[in-house]
Amino acid sequence: MTESEETIDRYAVVGQPIAHSRSPVIHKLFAQQTGEQLDYEAIEASPEHFETAVRGFGAAGGKGLNITVPHKQAAYELCNDCGPEANQARAVNTITIAADGHLRGDNTDGRGFMRDLTENLEQPVADQRVLILGAGGAARGIIAPLLAAEPAAIVLANRTIERAEALIEELGAPDGILPLTFEALESESPFDFVINATSIGLRGEDPPFPESCVGPDSFCYDLAYSLKDTPFVAWARELNAMQAVQGWGMLVEQAAESFEIWRGVRPDTAPILKQMKR
Ligand code: ATR
Repeated sequence: MTESEETIDRYAVVGQPIAHSRSPVIHKLFAQQTGEQLDYEAIEASPEHFETAVRGFGAAGGKGLNITVPHKQAAYELCNDCGPEANQARAVNTITIAADGHLRGDNTDGRGFMRDLTENLEQPVADQRVLILGAGGAARGIIAPLLAAEPAAIVLANRTIERAEALIEELGAPDGILPLTFEALESESPFDFVINATSIGLRGEDPPFPESCVGPDSFCYDLAYSLKDTPFVAWARELNAMQAVQGWGMLVEQAAESFEIWRGVRPDTAPILKQMKR
């Protein structure tokens, strides 16, 4: 090992599966752009090996980790202290590791999502009727920042209604958010803003949501991303939605927020986002 390799700061993303993660590419592009010296790898870890993977990376001198599916809630439990967004979502996607092994947890998903909406897509949230489809890990980080942007209302629809109710309860049962089943959605008029936070499509299923949710004025956003249209984006296009986009922007923006926490420099996301979409 050369001297420069020994001193280079190491970061990684931990998840399962991890082979297709774009985080290493994004962080290496950020490092190139900002002139920061760092290495960034991908680590596959099952839930039972997650803690060992985190502690082992820290013990080997690693400085920080991004955490992805299915470990964000386990990461929250593991961290010694957490930022306000992580505490609110009870989920962590960014760990900063101190020299003594202390783990600081942050959640940049909500900030990344809102930044993509407001800066890249210029999509308003204030006074909009918002529909979130799915009440799992992906929905968890975006609800509080959406509520803070003062929509007219948020409907949180989930196949398992109890999970939507429990998530709302966990967030302190704020005003302006209502749990509904997919069946109950059928009697609602089209929403201004429809967000897919389910994992449908990962295994090739067709979207199970009522078509009445989407109209010609609906803006549709998939938190998932893919090199071709995701099933949700294809479904929304077939329903003639005003616009249907994938979560590439959120992916790059949440990564930029993590990079800034670790390195104190904010990368310019526009050229990287362009490159990733290509
Ligand atoms: P993630 O962390 O990606 O959100 P998760 O916590 O397992 O993963 O949540 C997956 C979400 O997708 C849940 O809202 C799940 O609905 P249930 O709570 O009813 O399980 C939803 N989901 C997954 N497959 C689905 C399907 N075939 N139809 C409808 N909803 C589905």
